[in-house]
Amino acid sequence: MNSKEIRARFKSYFERNGHKIVPSSSMIVKGDPTLMFTNAGMNQFKDIFLGIRKPESLRVADSQKCLRVSGKHNDLEDVGHDTYHHTMFEMLGNWSFGDYFKEDAIRLAWNLLTEEYGIDKNRLYVTVFGGDPKENLDIDHEAENFWLKYVPKDRIIYGSKKDNFWEMGDQGPCGPCSEIHIDLRDDDERAKVAGAELVNKDNPQVIEIWNLVFIQYNRKADGTLEPLPQKHIDTGMGFERLCAVLQGKKSNYDTDIFQTIIGEISKISGKKYGQDNKTDIALRVVADHLRAVSFAIADGQLPSNNKAGYVIRRILRRAVRYAYSFLDIKTPFMYKLVDTLVDLMGDSFPELVSQKTLVEKVINEEETVFLRTLERGLRMLDTEMDKLKSEGKTEISGVQAFLLYDTYGFPLDLTELIAREKGYTVNKPDFDAEMAKQKERARNAAEVNTDDWVIVDEADCEFTGYDSLRENASILRYRKVVQKNETLYHIVFDRTPFYAEKGGQVGDKGVIVDGEKRIPIINTIEEHNLRIHVT
Ligand code: SER
Repeated sequence: MNSKEIRARFKSYFERNGHKIVPSSSMIVKGDPTLMFTNAGMNQFKDIFLGIRKPESLRVADSQKCLRVSGKHNDLEDVGHDTYHHTMFEMLGNWSFGDYFKEDAIRLAWNLLTEEYGIDKNRLYVTVFGGDPKENLDIDHEAENFWLKYVPKDRIIYGSKKDNFWEMGDQGPCGPCSEIHIDLRDDDERAKVAGAELVNKDNPQVIEIWNLVFIQYNRKADGTLEPLPQKHIDTGMGFERLCAVLQGKKSNYDTDIFQTIIGEISKISGKKYGQDNKTDIALRVVADHLRAVSFAIADGQLPSNNKAGYVIRRILRRAVRYAYSFLDIKTPFMYKLVDTLVDLMGDSFPELVSQKTLVEKVINEEETVFLRTLERGLRMLDTEMDKLKSEGKTEISGVQAFLLYDTYGFPLDLTELIAREKGYTVNKPDFDAEMAKQKERARNAAEVNTDDWVIVDEADCEFTGYDSLRENASILRYRKVVQKNETLYHIVFDRTPFYAEKGGQVGDKGVIVDGEKRIPIINTIEEHNLRIHVT
């Protein structure tokens, strides 16, 4: 089964079982200060669990685009180095809002995996919540008993609160959960060590594929658990892992989802997958990051210099860096892969089709600009290393590494990577100290302190600019403004020929003459009908 069929099967199965198939919500979260990107399928249903919104249907299912690159879930630096982490991934899920609960959630999941997808039952293990005395919560015998209809007792494992009690955050809907794990090891290894012993032990061949959450409590602000009036189901299954399982692969990157893209990158770079570890890492990084960046742009998040935009820019730059260093690609190329991605995923995510031109254009521009920067930075680093060599030194200073970071967008790991390859080191503590100073400068620069107005005279200001360009005037009020570490004054005069900045109009500039003193007016602004001269 290819990935399209696997996804379609999931949806049709739940549709047949009375679920409404809903579209994935945007990967970019707006209006929730605690979250930049959607990181779980349930994000879009949070308000339904909290009883703030009524559901359209009591049973829904979907494939949700998720991105785990910031906050609590951040896998970015692992991506590419192993075979199962991703920035963007799809989470297949089914939900019941006060409708079916544990028994049916378990039945639906088990039947899909074993009957529809035909996964070998003997490779599956399940976990149930093992209770927590501090929370006054019992072992989830209820879920255990339902599982016993399908799996023998020795394949059911009690899990801790960390693994088997799912919480959305410090507050809010939560409940015990039950995970389905699969043992993908070869038969001889399975004969030696039972799979049950490797569940939740970070073995890359014994992995969780599906998490069924039984939402039945609300975690209150004081930390206590309050039973919810209604009980809900929230499940999440990693689509890329499922595809690996069903396609008999040991790595998510060996599935058609990634191999199709990796094949295209190989065509461009001439580097084949599976021949060299560093090349493979780079191919995985590019294939993964292409997805994250394209979906983010299609969802309206353009790369930029702050917040979510900066995260996207960093992901794209990470891909360009790996391609530059390990695939010898020195010109923009990622935008050429968008076509393949759209072919692969456009059916399920139409936004990718409609935004294709924009996605290509933005990626191309970002690549072009970053490659130019990268070249300049590399030249600078080479010069620095030559200088150090002539002095008999091998350590690049923290100040120099920071300059590269700050001016050329070189993250420390890139400088370290290049340095290491040429036999140099980087002074990391000094780099960190420079970074801390920079943060402090940025914090100061962002602050604007505006004093209260000092009122000299309560009169109104008269505008005389249609007839004159200069005026004899007296001060009505003034205030001090400190911003970006400079001190300015706002001054309101009783009459002025200066036109204010508004509606796209540039504010007039000029000079205040007071005896011998000439004080520049750098702008004229208007606020609550006050014409203010900024000096
Ligand atoms: N909310 C759960 C998770 O993210 C199940 O979907 O794992």
